Formats: sequence, C-alpha cells, structure tokens
Amino acid sequence: MSDKRVLLIVAGGIAAYKCLELVRRLRERDVRVRCVVTRAAKELVSPLALAALSGEKVHDALFSLTEEAEMGHIRLAREADLVVVAPATADILAKMANGLADDLATTLLLATDKPVLAAPAMNPVMWAHPATQRNVARLREDGVEILGPAEGDMACGEHGPGRLVEPEALLEAILARLEPGPRPLAGIRALVTSGPTWEAIDPVRYIANRSSGRQGHAIAAALARAGAEVVLVSGPVAIPDPPGVRIVRVESASEMLAACEAALPVEVAVCAAAVADWRPERVPSEKIKKEEGHAPPVLRLVENPDILARLARHPSARPRLVVGFAAETGELEAKARAKRAKKGCDWILANDVSPGTGVFGGARNTVLLITGEEPARRWEDLPKEEVARRLVAAIATALGRGSA
Ligand code: C5P
Repeated sequence: MSDKRVLLIVAGGIAAYKCLELVRRLRERDVRVRCVVTRAAKELVSPLALAALSGEKVHDALFSLTEEAEMGHIRLAREADLVVVAPATADILAKMANGLADDLATTLLLATDKPVLAAPAMNPVMWAHPATQRNVARLREDGVEILGPAEGDMACGEHGPGRLVEPEALLEAILARLEPGPRPLAGIRALVTSGPTWEAIDPVRYIANRSSGRQGHAIAAALARAGAEVVLVSGPVAIPDPPGVRIVRVESASEMLAACEAALPVEVAVCAAAVADWRPERVPSEKIKKEEGHAPPVLRLVENPDILARLARHPSARPRLVVGFAAETGELEAKARAKRAKKGCDWILANDVSPGTGVFGGARNTVLLITGEEPARRWEDLPKEEVARRLVAAIATALGRGSA
C-alpha cells in the first residue's frame, strides 16, 4: 500500500485521541497519512504527536502564505486517494452537508474530488437530532460514506449511539476502500433478513427478542463488498446501516415476509433474522387498560409465517441458494441438520446460544456451516464480520464465482 495516501481530517471531538492509533496502524500498512486538524481538534489531540506518527507535516490553517507556497490547499485535497473525517463532529457534518468552507478542513472537503469516508462521534442526543440526521442523509446522497457511530458509554456519561468506531474498524474500512477486493458476486441479487421482529400486543406494547442484528448486518455488508446487489430487510435494531445495501425497515414477521417477497427474484437469500415464532392473535386498536380488580389479560398467540421455509419452498421464485440460521443449545449439528430438512433450505449456519456463550448481542460467534453434501465446517470464535466474510466466500464458490 506504499503508494496509497489518506488525507485524515481530525475534527474537535473527544475521540480525536483515537486518531493517533489509527495513524499508527495505517503507517504499519505503509499507507501515507497526511493530517489536517481543525482549531478545536488541536485542543484535544497534539498536532506534534500526529506529525510524529504520520511522519508528515500537520496542516491547520487556510491562509498561511508559506503553506500555500509549499503546497496549495487544492493540491492537498486532491493528492490523497481517500479523505477520512474522524472524528466527524456534528459541526463538521453540518458544514459538509451545506458546503461551508470556513477553515482548511472544510475547504479541503469541498475542493476534493476523491471519495470521502466520515466516522461520526458525538453525544447520542446530538446524533439523534433531526438536524444531524438530515445532514447525514444529505451527505449519504452526496456519496459520502458514513461509518458508525457505534453504540456504548460516552465520555459525557451518557449511553447510546455516538461513539467513534474503534480504530480497528476504521482501519478495515479504509483499507477496503484503498484496495477494493475482488467482486465475485457482481450482478448477483441477494436478500438478507436481520434483527428481531416486534409483535404488537396493543398500540404501545410488543413482544420482542434480544437479537442485535449484528450477524445479519455483517452478512449484508460482506455480500455488498463482494459486489452483490443487496436488499437488507431488518427488524428494529440499534446498529448503523451497513454501507452499500438497500435497507427495508420492518417491525413484525408479517411485514418482514411481505418485504422479502417484494424483493424477489434474488439468487441468494440469507435469513439471519430472529423472527418471533408467535404473535398475539388479536391486536386491539386501543391500549389495553390495567383495571382495579380485573385479572391480567390473557395473551392468545398464533404462529407467524416461517419466512425461511416460504422462501425455500417458493413456487415460482425460489432463490438458487437459501441459507438459514439455527440458534440451538446443545446437540448443535443434529438439530441443525434436522432444521435444514424441515425448512427446505440449502445451508444452515448453526450457532450455540447456550447461556454464557455471549453470542446473542455479542461481537463474536462460533458456527457450524452445514451444506448437506460435505461434513459440517466449524468456524471457531470469530468476529461476526469474519463469519460473514467466510459465508460470502462459500456462497461465491457455490455459485461458481470463485472465492470472495
Ligand atoms: O425455527 P427457527 O426459528 O429455529 O429457525 C431459524 C431460522 O429460520 C433462521 O434462519 C430464521 O431467520 C428463520 N425463520 C424465519 N421465519 C420464522 C422463523 C424462523 O425466517 N418465522
């Protein structure tokens, strides 16, 4: 990667210190990094440290005659292969979305003709604010790729989406853009379901489950990276949309089924959603009242449609490859093989969700891939992104497209 260059724009968020690690990791990969800091960023991270780690001069002023003589700001904006904004504060996102150029960082962002990747970091309420969401939507339309924010505890003591994604994830995203991998699934249409479903009890209450959507979203992202045209049908989740996919947001299993059927025909379907098995039989239009002296209401449940089985047995538009999940506790392989037969799908990815494995909502997974013909393949304790990458490689091979 020694010929690759990143222009890293560091804005004034507390997470700016993570950029030091990012610069170090990029330099380890021989990526050249030129840093630009905003006025606020200089208060939070030392330009000297950035200069020492990057081995390049750090730029911070627009109207410096000596700098203009050495390197014009237009050249600075164009000489990179990729412009990265991290942390992207609410302020710099707002300026970018509106084309403001009142300092070196924003001027470069307006003057560049290279792809821009922004990793937001801010207080969760600022992130959720309609103004920020509007700015982010506008930036996405403009072709800016938004990575994160991640969810978690914030430096300000609050909790929610707003953390800068970890340097490791930023590094991955940057390397993927600098050296796009092969796209073996170009021209392939894929459908992925992800997340839980919410089944209404009344207008304010619902039945849900603990699925985070992380595995399904990672699969959708990996399929898109491999060149597939991806429709991701997602139940309610608190994680960011994966880049490069069309996302259809649903709540209930019935809505999920309708969205999946509307996405057909596809060559590949991966059902990773934790679809509720049952839903309340009747959903009153008014909130069920708790009344003195009355017994608690009885919930009568009816079975939900099995989306995986429906896709696998679709009379006219069965995908060439249908992949389901089996979350089991104990006797993993035998139960997964039985599930494969029962559902009529081609492959099953089985994971052990016994208490203590931390799979539900966690970042890692141990899975068995059961394809039918061969012995099960076991993928031990991997990040969910790596499980996704391996599954996509297997899909590419199965479709005769080489490995991803
Ligand atoms: O039957 P079980 O819920 O264990 O099956 C899990 C697999 O079936 C997952 O791939 C899940 O996405 C899919 N499924 C579905 N629709 C349902 C129930 C499960 O697509 N109603």
